[in-house]
Amino acid sequence: MTLETRSLTALSEALAELERGFAGLPAHEAELPPAEFERMRRVLLELARRLHDNFPYPHPLYAGQMLTPPHPLARSAYALAQWINPNNHALDGGRATSALERVAVNELGAMFGWPEQLGHVTSGGTLANLEALWVAGRLQPGATILASAQAHYTHARLSEVLGLAFESVPSDALGRMDANALEARLARSGVGLVVATLGTTSTGSVDPLPRVLELARKAGARVHADAAYGGYFGLARNLEPHAREAFAALAHVDSIAIDPHKHGLQPYGCGVILFRDPSVGRFYKHDSPYTYFSSDELHLGEITLECSRPGAASAALWATQQMFPLVPGGPFARGLESSLRAARALFAELARDERWRMLFEPELDILVWAPREQSARATSARSRALFGAAAKRNLHLALATLPRALLEPHWKDLEWDAQSATVLRSCLLKPEHESWVPRIAAILRELQD
Ligand SMILES: Cc1ncc(COP(=O)(O)O)c(C=O)c1O
Repeated sequence: MTLETRSLTALSEALAELERGFAGLPAHEAELPPAEFERMRRVLLELARRLHDNFPYPHPLYAGQMLTPPHPLARSAYALAQWINPNNHALDGGRATSALERVAVNELGAMFGWPEQLGHVTSGGTLANLEALWVAGRLQPGATILASAQAHYTHARLSEVLGLAFESVPSDALGRMDANALEARLARSGVGLVVATLGTTSTGSVDPLPRVLELARKAGARVHADAAYGGYFGLARNLEPHAREAFAALAHVDSIAIDPHKHGLQPYGCGVILFRDPSVGRFYKHDSPYTYFSSDELHLGEITLECSRPGAASAALWATQQMFPLVPGGPFARGLESSLRAARALFAELARDERWRMLFEPELDILVWAPREQSARATSARSRALFGAAAKRNLHLALATLPRALLEPHWKDLEWDAQSATVLRSCLLKPEHESWVPRIAAILRELQD
């Protein structure tokens, strides 16, 4: 079986409990009339057939993009909350889920060593980063935003949306922000924010955060950590020293974006933005005549850029953190450790085979490699062919087009007939991946035979 279904029993039981909470209301027919139910049933079956047109994300042989279905608890909690459909814009829209959002966000803050912070759930990492850039722009109008060449592409675009100047800092041969280049740029002044990426999208590289912090502080710039992908890895006890030090330094940045819908077992869309200094909440102040003000308590709509937000996302996040507390050594942290081991094991397997070119040892659970060809163009063509051939054997990988500057230091004998090359990429973010590495490696070997 590929799809988990046992959770449906628990969901049904929880639904009956939810119903009990409304027992005092006058009777009202909630069930669909038979004809409508029948139509719904048929549409759902048609939808199930249309959903076949997807890569099999739930299966361990899906080892491509940073995509994985939510934990059954998160999915069930989200579904359960949908029977109410709370809106965490304001307390009137979702009292219970607003309280759950605060608890869940505070737990994430505590994970980063911030017992007090200002934070909330967003629709994803892009919105979380947008809020960090927006606050930086409000604090230092006209100042420039810096992020590395390997940072997520949206930072440049978000800066454009916000009307802020953006500059890219070169990355080094390991896909990390080049600290010397950062130092040189900061020396020219005018920088308001440095974005450090902890877990780049292409290669899972971790920027040298302690050094970034030191340089940015000296220059009077803020530091935002885009930990949308890697944010949870500070819980893992098997990080290599560079990454361990970077995650430990997260406590000292000004803001952090983390995506529970990537490594946090959540359905889309669930991102979180956290600000170390709660006083930045003043920038969010608004006087909406529509917003419900039925309580004196601060409501989350007063500290978010988005208006309506799904209370269900917070219900799911809270529930998941109840079952999987964010503590080193806990079952969730052990899952992350397993992903790290999976990536290292697959790297080691592939590195033994001369027919592959490896980029560098994965810092997190993303690895990048390519078939050994003579030229950049031939590498791209063969990578694409292998991507398709692997999919035919049910192994689903991803492709990444990486710049010559990143690849050349590692692949010195490659003929550069293009300024970039398309390579194979795999995100091993499911804890099950560790036990599937031998099978994944075997399929890759057969493809090269
Ligand atoms: C490092 C990083 N930042 C930001 C994002 C954007 O997040 P989202 O897709 O949730 O908007 C991603 C997505 O892959 C990412 O890897």
